[in-house]
Order: sequence, then C-alpha cells, then structure tokens
Amino acid sequence: MPVSKVQYYISKLGLIPHPEGGYYTEFYRSEETFIKKYLPVRYSGNRNFSTSIYFLLSEKNVSNFHRLQSDELWHFYNGSGLIIYVLNDVQGLTKIYLGNDLESNENFQVVIKAGDWFAAEVKDKCSYTLLGCTVAPGFDFSDFEMAKRDTLLNKFVEHKDLIMQFTSS
Ligand code: GUN
Repeated sequence: MPVSKVQYYISKLGLIPHPEGGYYTEFYRSEETFIKKYLPVRYSGNRNFSTSIYFLLSEKNVSNFHRLQSDELWHFYNGSGLIIYVLNDVQGLTKIYLGNDLESNENFQVVIKAGDWFAAEVKDKCSYTLLGCTVAPGFDFSDFEMAKRDTLLNKFVEHKDLIMQFTSS
C-alpha cells in the first residue's frame, strides 16, 4: 500500500507516535471512573471505565514488546492483516492474527490478556494496518510497561530472535 495512505490516516485522524511504536490517537475516554479502592490492587489509582484508541502500524514501524494491567481488545479496520506475538509463562509464544481474511486464520477482533507480553507487525510488508484498541478499566500509562530486552531473554531465551527484533533496549 502506498505510503500516502499511511500519511492520509496520520493526518486525517491526528495520529501521533506511540512509545511502543506506530501511531495513535485516543478516540474515547469514559467520563465515569472506577475508584481505586474498588479496583484490584495492581491499579495504582482511579481509572476511567474504558478507553479506546486508533492505532496504526506500517511496514516501517512495529509494536515492540510491552504489557498492560488490563485485557486489551484489538479491532481490525483497514489495510493488511497483523501478526501479534504473545509471550507468557504458561504457553510460551502464541501468535494471534488480526485482519479480515477469516480463511487465513485472521480475526476481526482479538484479545490480549492482562500481563502478557505482546508485540506486533503488519503481515504484508508493503502495507499498513489501521486498528482500534479498547481497554477496561481505561488506559493509563502507569499500567503500561515496555519490555526490557534482558528481562524477556532471561525468561524466553528460546525466542531470542523474536525478542531481539521486537525490543529496542
Ligand atoms: N492510550 C495510549 N496508549 C494506549 C494503548 O496502548 N492502548 C490503549 N487501549 N489506549 C492507549
């Protein structure tokens, strides 16, 4: 897909660089909040009920390994399918496919479980993926952690190549 389509979405939707890679803008943040004392202790403060973003990855940027305190739903909107790499202690590496080619194992919506490390790249290296990401309780950067390369290598050394590719330090 021509870069101009990427530029079109960046400018039309007002996307900005995300620390994990790619571009995003927050689309929705609920007005109501959960009070900290009614949330599990892993949340450091009050949280909005829910949030959602537009998120765009192209062949030039990947989502590096990171994790959240909440389950996150990813919704496919446009472009190429996306490969999501998930690492956890129970299953090791799992690949999840987001996209509209249901015959190729892609899904319109996928769930990434709270606490799992995950990274993503577009399937078609000449394309982009436009998607949505929804979390509840709502997103807060204190619930977001970029993976340190060494932390992942210590736990999942059999996936060294993948970890090297999807971590920056
Ligand atoms: N807001 C800022 N970054 C993110 C993110 O990675 N996911 C969600 N759902 N919201 C965000």
